[in-house]
Amino acid sequence: MAEPKKLFIKTYGCQMNVYDSERMAEALGAEGYVTTGRADEADMVLLNTCHIREKASEKLYSDLGRLRPLKAGKPDLKIGVAGCVAQAEGAEIIRRMPMVDLVVGPQSYHRLPAMARAAEQGQRPVDTDFPAEDKFDHLPERPAAVRPTAFLTVQEGCDKFCAFCVVPYTRGSEVSRPATRILDEARKLADKGVREITLLGQNVNAYHGEGPAAEGGGDWSLARLVRALAQIDGLARIRYTTSHPNDMDDELIAAHGEETKLMPYLHLPVQSGSDRILKAMNRRHTADSYLKLVEKIRAARPDMMMSGDFIVGFPGETDADFAETLDLVRAVGYGMAYSFKYSARPGTPAAERAPVPGAVADARLQELQALITSQQHAAQEAMVGREVGVLFEKPGRLKGQMVGKSDYLHAVHVRDDSLRAGEIARVRITASETNSLAGVLVG
Ligand code: 5AD
Ligand code: SF4
Repeated sequence: MAEPKKLFIKTYGCQMNVYDSERMAEALGAEGYVTTGRADEADMVLLNTCHIREKASEKLYSDLGRLRPLKAGKPDLKIGVAGCVAQAEGAEIIRRMPMVDLVVGPQSYHRLPAMARAAEQGQRPVDTDFPAEDKFDHLPERPAAVRPTAFLTVQEGCDKFCAFCVVPYTRGSEVSRPATRILDEARKLADKGVREITLLGQNVNAYHGEGPAAEGGGDWSLARLVRALAQIDGLARIRYTTSHPNDMDDELIAAHGEETKLMPYLHLPVQSGSDRILKAMNRRHTADSYLKLVEKIRAARPDMMMSGDFIVGFPGETDADFAETLDLVRAVGYGMAYSFKYSARPGTPAAERAPVPGAVADARLQELQALITSQQHAAQEAMVGREVGVLFEKPGRLKGQMVGKSDYLHAVHVRDDSLRAGEIARVRITASETNSLAGVLVG
């Protein structure tokens, strides 16, 4: 039998790319490829790219530059570019980097096996279609779980058109998968040992998929989907990301209060605390409406750990606007938050506007990050002495240690030889460390 061909995938960007990379590896698995963690022994290198900020995008070209000697020494090596840069730039990538053998967008990667074959025959396939067929119908079934947690894409694309964002262009308009498919995939994952599923979508809480025929079809909301998923035996935890404040409906908020499998952690980006900037960003909500929403969510689930995204230095942002962002962060008290310096993206409305000087944006980013870090530490400190559920995922660095995630998504490590991956246990938190918590088993 021939040696299996080896595939190395590098994933940039968001969790949906992580999910897509796994599915691409499975699709190429059917073509005889096995994955390797080493680019230097690969027959195919696939870069699954991110286009969200300029830095993320440019990484593709610097990484391709680094792969050049490898390709020079191994002419049969195939190099593929997937993901959102592939979608945005298409054939331009091959023009700029002739070492690239194939380019595939996020909606057409079910066609990868055929593209790989074409590349092996010396062709240079490029596919950035938004095909009529559903890629999920053409992907192989997911194999046995190696981890007790899994991502599951339920919705893709975005119709919100925030003035800074490329997602509506790279991932296209909002499409929700039918609930039956999602429930089937989730049941299979649970049968294979997955205990926690994170539902993914660029606008996941705008989910409106077709309900199962057995239940009368219709249009299902995310809340309804979550409640149905919660009925699956073996599945213990449900999370979802990323949400838009305007799609956080009462039904979903109520589910957070009632559905014990729905974890008390919510990533709810707001981007800015200034109404003027929110308007310029085309966010269609105000700082106050966001704060009221957080209040409502915490009324349903008082221990909800909030997470968010922020952009500083958006065109037109003044010191006063930025001060309002700091005020909002103080008012919410985030357990976790991500902040970015505004990056002008070609084709987006905000890219036409006069930028804030780089040094000003840098200083704001530092100030915001310091505040967020102090809130993160405070949230971790507040866990010390408390009991939390932890889903253990893998052995830690020390002997006999296992690491996992708490209900609130904190990394937790415990030293106990009896623990196995996939087990959920009650843990009393004993210490807060830089990026994790230490704990002991309860009882
Ligand atoms: N510049 C900086 N940050 C951006 N984000 C999206 N687009 C841009 C941009 N052009 C951030 C937003 C979003 C997160 C995924 O990335 O905060 O929520
Ligand atoms: Fe981008 Fe999110 Fe706004 Fe959609 S809602 S345009 S994905 S930032």
